[in-house]
Amino acid sequence: MEDKFSDRKFGTRVVWSGTNHMEGSPITPIFTTSTYKLSDDRYKKWKETGGHHTLTYSRYSSINSEAVSAKVAALEGADDGETFGSGMAAISTTLLSQLSQGDHIVTSADIYGGTYALMTSELPRLGIGVSMADLRDPSSFEAAINENTKVLYVETITNPTLKVCDIVEMAKIAKNHGLISIVDNTFATPWACRPLEMGFDLVIHSGTKFLNGHTDLTAGIVVGRGDLIKSVFNLKKSLGGAADPQMCYLLERGMRTLHARMPIHASNAAELAMRLKDHPAITSVNHPSLPNDPDHDVASRVVPRGTGMLSFSVKGGDQAALDFVRELEIVFEATSLGGVESLVQCPFNTSHMFVPEDVRLEAGILPGFVRMSVGIENVEDLWYDLDQALISSQSQ
Ligand SMILES: Cc1ncc(COP(=O)(O)O)c(C=O)c1O
Repeated sequence: MEDKFSDRKFGTRVVWSGTNHMEGSPITPIFTTSTYKLSDDRYKKWKETGGHHTLTYSRYSSINSEAVSAKVAALEGADDGETFGSGMAAISTTLLSQLSQGDHIVTSADIYGGTYALMTSELPRLGIGVSMADLRDPSSFEAAINENTKVLYVETITNPTLKVCDIVEMAKIAKNHGLISIVDNTFATPWACRPLEMGFDLVIHSGTKFLNGHTDLTAGIVVGRGDLIKSVFNLKKSLGGAADPQMCYLLERGMRTLHARMPIHASNAAELAMRLKDHPAITSVNHPSLPNDPDHDVASRVVPRGTGMLSFSVKGGDQAALDFVRELEIVFEATSLGGVESLVQCPFNTSHMFVPEDVRLEAGILPGFVRMSVGIENVEDLWYDLDQALISSQSQ
C-alpha cells in the first residue's frame, strides 16, 4: 500500500497515513454503503484482483476499512493489510489461510486465552498439529519444529504475564526453517515495537485495544508481506469476518492519537509497578520496566518504550484479588484493555477461565493474580485508588 508519508516521523504518520481525503476532507468520511455501482472498469479490476482493494462489496472492502488497513500498514512498515470485525477474526483467518490439514504450528502457552482455545481446540479438530514451547527460550521453539511445521506464532508481550518475546531470535529461527512468522503485537503497538523490521512476516492486532484506545468497538487487523495478505484476504471473503464502515471510522479516529496516548499509558504503568512492588499486600509484580524483571534486558531491545499493561499478585490468593478489585473506586473491573480508562480483571475468572489451572500456574498466573490495563488518568489518583482498595480488602 502506497504511503506518501513514509519519509515522515511516526507521529505524523499516525495522523496522516492511510486517511482518505475525498472532497478535501481532512478525515476519512463514514461511507456506510454495503455495495458499489459496478462499471466495466470495476468488473475488470474485480476479475484481476479477486476483489482485493476493489470497491465492490463491503464484506470484501470498504472506503473506511481501506483507510484503517493502510494506516496500520504504514505504522508497522508493511506492504499491505486487512481489517476484520475482531482480533479473533484476524487471528483465526490468518492462521487458517496459512495452515491445512496435516500441517503443524509452534507457539507458546503464554498467549491470550481466546487464541489458546483456538490453538488447542479448533486447530487440532481440523487436523493441524500444535506444539507449545517456552517463550523465554527460543531454542525450545527450534526443538519443536518438525517436517510439517509451517508457522511460528508468538505475542510480543504476553497476555497476562507480560513476558517479552525475543522477536529478533524468533524471526531468525522462523527464517532458518522456512516458516511463516506471525506475531500478535496488541500489547506493544507499533509505537513500542515494529516486528516486521525485526524480520517477522505478519503482525496482528486486536484493534479493540490500544490502537483504538477508547473502549467503544471490536476490531482486528493483520499487516505484513503482500503475498501473505492476499491469501488472508481470499479466506476472509469466505469466512466473512469483515469490519463494518462505522467501526472502521471510529478506529481510524482513535488511532490518530496513538502516539499521544501511549507514553502516558507506559509511564503510568511503570510508576505503579515500582510502587506496587514495595506494597505489603502485593506478593509479585510483572512489568518489564522493573530492573529485576526477568525480561528487563529483552524488553530494553524489543520494547524499549514500555507498555501500559501491568500485572501483579495480591496476598491471600484469588478471593483476596476479587475482594481488592471490588473495592476500587476509580478503576473498573472489566475485561478488555488498552482504553484511556484503567481496567482490572482477574484472569482466572475472565480471559483465562478456560485455560486449565496447571497451565495457568505454569505460565505464571499465580493465585491472587490481577491484570491491569493502565489508563491515562492522573497517576496519583490511580495510586490512591490501588492503595485504598488493597488496604480495605486486606482488612476484611
Ligand atoms: C493479546 C490479544 N490478542 C487478541 C485478542 C482478541 O481480540 P478481540 O477481543 O478483538 O477479538 C485479545 C483480546 O483480549 C488480546 O488480548
